[in-house]
Amino acid sequence: MCGIVGILSSRPVAHDLVDALRRLEYRGYDSAGIATVEDGRLQRRRAEGKLRNLETRLLSEPLQGHIGIGHTRWATHGGPSERNAHPHMSARVSVVHNGIIENFRELKAELTAAGHVFESDTDTEAVVHLITHELGKGLGPVEAVKASLKRLRGAFALAILFAGENDMMIAARLGSPLVIGHGNGNSEMYLGSDAIALAPFTDTVTYLEEGDWAVLQRTGSVIYDRDGNAVERPPVKSQASALLVDKGNHRHFMAKEIYEQPEVISHTLAHYIDMSEGRVRIPDLGIDLASVPRVTISACGTAYYAGLVAKYWIERFARVPVEIDIASEMRYREAPLPEGGIALFVSQSGETADTLATLRYCKANGQRIAAVVNVRTSTIAREADVVLPTLAGPEIGVASTKAFTCQLTALACFAIALGRARGTIDEARERELVDALIEVPRHITDELTTEPRYEALAHTLSKSHDVLYLGRGVSFPLAMEGALKLKEISYLHAEGYAAGELKHGPIALIDENMPVIVVAPMDDLFEKTVSNMQEVAARGGKIVLISNAPDDAAGCALANHIQVPTAHVFTSPILYAVPIQLIAYHTAVVMGTDVDQPRNLAKSVTVE
Ligand code: M6R
Repeated sequence: MCGIVGILSSRPVAHDLVDALRRLEYRGYDSAGIATVEDGRLQRRRAEGKLRNLETRLLSEPLQGHIGIGHTRWATHGGPSERNAHPHMSARVSVVHNGIIENFRELKAELTAAGHVFESDTDTEAVVHLITHELGKGLGPVEAVKASLKRLRGAFALAILFAGENDMMIAARLGSPLVIGHGNGNSEMYLGSDAIALAPFTDTVTYLEEGDWAVLQRTGSVIYDRDGNAVERPPVKSQASALLVDKGNHRHFMAKEIYEQPEVISHTLAHYIDMSEGRVRIPDLGIDLASVPRVTISACGTAYYAGLVAKYWIERFARVPVEIDIASEMRYREAPLPEGGIALFVSQSGETADTLATLRYCKANGQRIAAVVNVRTSTIAREADVVLPTLAGPEIGVASTKAFTCQLTALACFAIALGRARGTIDEARERELVDALIEVPRHITDELTTEPRYEALAHTLSKSHDVLYLGRGVSFPLAMEGALKLKEISYLHAEGYAAGELKHGPIALIDENMPVIVVAPMDDLFEKTVSNMQEVAARGGKIVLISNAPDDAAGCALANHIQVPTAHVFTSPILYAVPIQLIAYHTAVVMGTDVDQPRNLAKSVTVE
């Protein structure tokens, strides 16, 4: 979840390290730091909080080294303080780390007994002292790292600098992504948690595989596998754009990304739909879709809610049973999986640790693996048998918006393709559903024109302590997504509930101070939800209805009614995602929180 970078250059690297870290700040932003080698000695600057604090520190205390490593942190072991900020170092070694060293306590005890003095609460510092200890035995840097890596348990991406070594950096990857960037000529090499970090410097990158470690010099790199054999990993052209950290005319990345939805959904649709024939085309899954016994879906957070919508679609339209679970639960459940089954994973980043672990479990248990991912070079994409890409482009705001609606778009296409293969959807029905999907970008464009209306509602919500979201059927996952979105960026407590469950407990919470946001398209369940709204109204609850229904359809007083364009019910989860995003966004703006980088969170969760 942290971001790491490394640069070897013929000029001072501090400025470029900070530039690269800015592109990785989405991975964590509790503290940041860089280290360089100057006149053979390790030097570092660190600062608690956002990257700008480190930049300020560097203005008054610049670094001049031509080789350096950098880090932006999401705290796991040890609070977010300068003392725990990376790089960690001894007089001989400096390390930045993403991941968790599981056996750090055992290593710390052993190294402390051997005379090493620890200065932080982090697991990373054990790596510093372990390598220093090996150097102390007379080993060179490469041998010392090789010996140390054998002792580490857990997940890590590491970048390591050595005092007295002005042309050597060592990188290692196990469970956390790491990419080498090939610079111009023979004078520059780069390292980063992802290709986005390196985009301003190079588009030629090499992805390290699990267990790989590499020795980087200005003239190139040598990669070794976990057994210490030199291996070839082919360089590839990265699609990451150097221009991505641009908010355009928007105040926040989240707002920009909400507004990008008509375009990126169009791109995603164009990928799956043959517009001339009105047919869906998905990649060959290498399995007979007509006889698939079950689809197993797993994901985390917002991606999980996209998967939950897909369960409703797949069961309804393709008549295939779907099992779905959050990845952090499924990975340990030892769930029995059917022969010939498909396991489908949904992830924006493609690096979420729990989702990846569940993918590996399903693969080991004979499932055909399909992954709906946004980052096509990610680990999940590379380990899947088949990738169903979302074409959302880079999503920088921590709160997922356009990635979610693109996930829904890809999953809707998957459900149609499955239905066609099984004969539950005929050609005419496929065309009807495809036509409905093609209209989504236009409807979202219309929805966005109503944005000014959200401000008054946001002011009201910002005065609440708790907010309840209700939805039925395919709108139930939307209710949970709405609550998650509000929680994560406004810090207001919110819960998403199945509307029918209201009377089994949560109704006790309803009073005149409780806003209840009801996601209720005019579908075959609308009348049922009307009954639930009346139950809320009878207890004084303040109802905010998100619906294409007329004002009087609820049969009770509404505090607010957000009108959604009338469209085919199949596409309602995609259209109803937009109001819940705008509600959360405007509430967070009113509350003055850090919308794009909310507290305690990180964009990509690469630890358990
Ligand atoms: O990269 P992923 O899609 O695998 O991430 C999954 C969740 O961490 C993510 O959706 C998270 O819940 C978002 N912050 C929600 O807005």
